[in-house]
Amino acid sequence: MYSQTRDASRRVTATDLAKLRDKGEAIIAVSLHDAWMAELFDRAGAHILLVGDSLGMLFQGQPDTVGVTLEHIIYHTRAVRAGASRAHVVSDLPFLWASRNEDAALEALGRLMQEGGADSVKLEATERQIPLVTRAVEAGIPIMAHVGLRPQTARTLGGYPRQGRDAQSAATIRATAQALAQAGAYAVLVENVPDHLGSEITQQLTVPTIGIGAGVGCSGQILVAHDILGLSERTPPFARPFAELGIQAAAAARAYAQAVSSGQVGGRPPSTTRS
Ligand code: KIV
Repeated sequence: MYSQTRDASRRVTATDLAKLRDKGEAIIAVSLHDAWMAELFDRAGAHILLVGDSLGMLFQGQPDTVGVTLEHIIYHTRAVRAGASRAHVVSDLPFLWASRNEDAALEALGRLMQEGGADSVKLEATERQIPLVTRAVEAGIPIMAHVGLRPQTARTLGGYPRQGRDAQSAATIRATAQALAQAGAYAVLVENVPDHLGSEITQQLTVPTIGIGAGVGCSGQILVAHDILGLSERTPPFARPFAELGIQAAAAARAYAQAVSSGQVGGRPPSTTRS
């Protein structure tokens, strides 16, 4: 789409994200899956581009994230890396990897950086993942921990219900976030929890929080690009669309089909025909 020098030294780092938090500047994050979208949001000023395993639903037409493999995320991370100039590229660790033995999980985290080109990796975590986070960070893999609603557990949860609604589960999420940050996670993504809980976690941590459906009190916000652009018909209730491109795309698809059927497509439109 656009060409620009790709200078790795200009890339946003985990340290830059911490500085933004300390200055009280909101961190802008987007989950997306291809080079075109990466370039679009990088140019718009996003600090973080997440190659989320939401690609299972949005790209592959799957019901959830369970079928997304390490190879899929590596492939899409390469694409996003190619489109990103400045933003920090984060790969999602797919289903099950964070629960495998630590050596296998560490290898998967490394492949996302070495083969995909990710700057860091996000993993859905409970306190069980603390040893893995410690080891990964020691090995040089920056980790973003994902707490609150963990979409990879959707089949156990029976969907995507809001988490942390009662005092006990809120306390568990707060403690998990704290422990993961202490283990070395450079940021904690907090998904689909009450606004007050998003704010409390943010105040208690010394690393940035990135919220999705967790209120405005987080250090930054993330949404899925499809939802931002209004491309997806099935959006979570907290996802605010900033355009309705899905409606325009459907109209363009119908207009194209109609034009082909009526013999109006095959050359340039008269206004753009060069002599
Ligand atoms: O997979 C994804 O896109 C995500 C975001 C919803 C945070 O994890």
